[in-house]
Amino acid sequence: MTLPPDALDALPGAMLAAQLALRDALHALGLTGEAAGQPAWPFAHRLAAEMLAIDGGHARRVALTLGCVLLAVALLAAALLVRARRVRGGLAAAALALVLLAPWPLPQLLLAPAVPTSLHRSPTGFAAEGIVRGQAVYMRLCARCHGADARGEGPDAARLPVWPPMLTGGLLWKRLDGELFWRVRHGMHGRGGERTMPGFGPVQISDAEIWQVLDYLQAHAAGRMLRESGAWEHPVRMPAAALRCRHGGLRGTHSLRAQRLQVVLPAPGAPLPPEDPRMVSVVVGGAPPSEPECEAADAHLLPALALLLGVAPAAAPGHVLLVDRAGWLRARAQPGQGGWSEDDLVCRSAPGARAQSPADGQGLDVLLRRMDADAVRLVRGGFPH
Ligand code: HEC
Repeated sequence: MTLPPDALDALPGAMLAAQLALRDALHALGLTGEAAGQPAWPFAHRLAAEMLAIDGGHARRVALTLGCVLLAVALLAAALLVRARRVRGGLAAAALALVLLAPWPLPQLLLAPAVPTSLHRSPTGFAAEGIVRGQAVYMRLCARCHGADARGEGPDAARLPVWPPMLTGGLLWKRLDGELFWRVRHGMHGRGGERTMPGFGPVQISDAEIWQVLDYLQAHAAGRMLRESGAWEHPVRMPAAALRCRHGGLRGTHSLRAQRLQVVLPAPGAPLPPEDPRMVSVVVGGAPPSEPECEAADAHLLPALALLLGVAPAAAPGHVLLVDRAGWLRARAQPGQGGWSEDDLVCRSAPGARAQSPADGQGLDVLLRRMDADAVRLVRGGFPH
């Protein structure tokens, strides 16, 4: 039996929404408490989405079983409403048969171990200030094992029972935010129960600092990827920061959501790219000319963007970034590069995705059209984020 691809695409989102609804309903009824300021997940397991994208057969089983169970619930509800005993018995039997005959997925593919913060959302909003503060926390507490460059080769690494993993590759995106949070707060254990990584909260760092260090790690890993492979393989947000704008005064980057941004890091002595009616221009650092459309009013934005670009803050001036209407950083121009081309689209929905047909127009025109047509989606631990 085949299912429409849209139904399979929507499956992880539906599974996440159902779990969040269950968690919040139990909390609202007073049956469960809170962990780190958000409703706690009370079960030892949660639904896992990682295998849905990898194993199509498993995804179909999950979708069909979900359909069977929902139908069975509807039949049972109908059975409660009818009077005739025979019809009632028939409906109940049909519901039972549906549940028994559903193509149940393997539990080890459907379920993953969970912790109380499994479904937590980071409260930071990916703020530039938090990313920069997170870097300081990382250097103070984590670098001795994970290494200043997060490649897992800190001075203490060789003395540990297991080698610390590289935190520069895809690992962070394979995990749920809330589960990384739990591991940094409470530490980790190996198969034999021995401690592999110490826990840090709440004595050495606050919950807020844990979320910040996770933002830093994500920004740092994104910058490494861009430097090494020339692409942001996972979408990254424009960091949140205060801006001072010609119209509207002081405002946050999030208030410009739904508009495209051209983020300019001016190089000394070089002319700024012209303002463009298709985008809001945001100047970050340097000595902007009188009254730019918007300029950063937060000194953390430049170092945060440098991390995302994978360069030292001193090497950041001269870059230009384009942000799409959903707030994702999509295109990058390097210092000294004249004009734009489609190759500057460094964040795409699929690695190497190119448009099927050549587009009319040139440079920025084509780039903006591609950017709008190719929406990107962040996935963490198999779930949409
Ligand atoms: C004493 C050494 C040590 C220190 C200090 C340390 N870690 Fe770790 N970390 C490890 C080891 C070892 C592992 C692998 C543990 C395992 O797989 O059982 C690990 C794993 C991780 C992981 C991967 C978790 C996963 O889901 O696989 C993250 C993220 C992480 N550490 C972040 C941090 C952060 C953030 C800090 C600082 C606040 C930190 N670590 C400090 C040794 C350390």
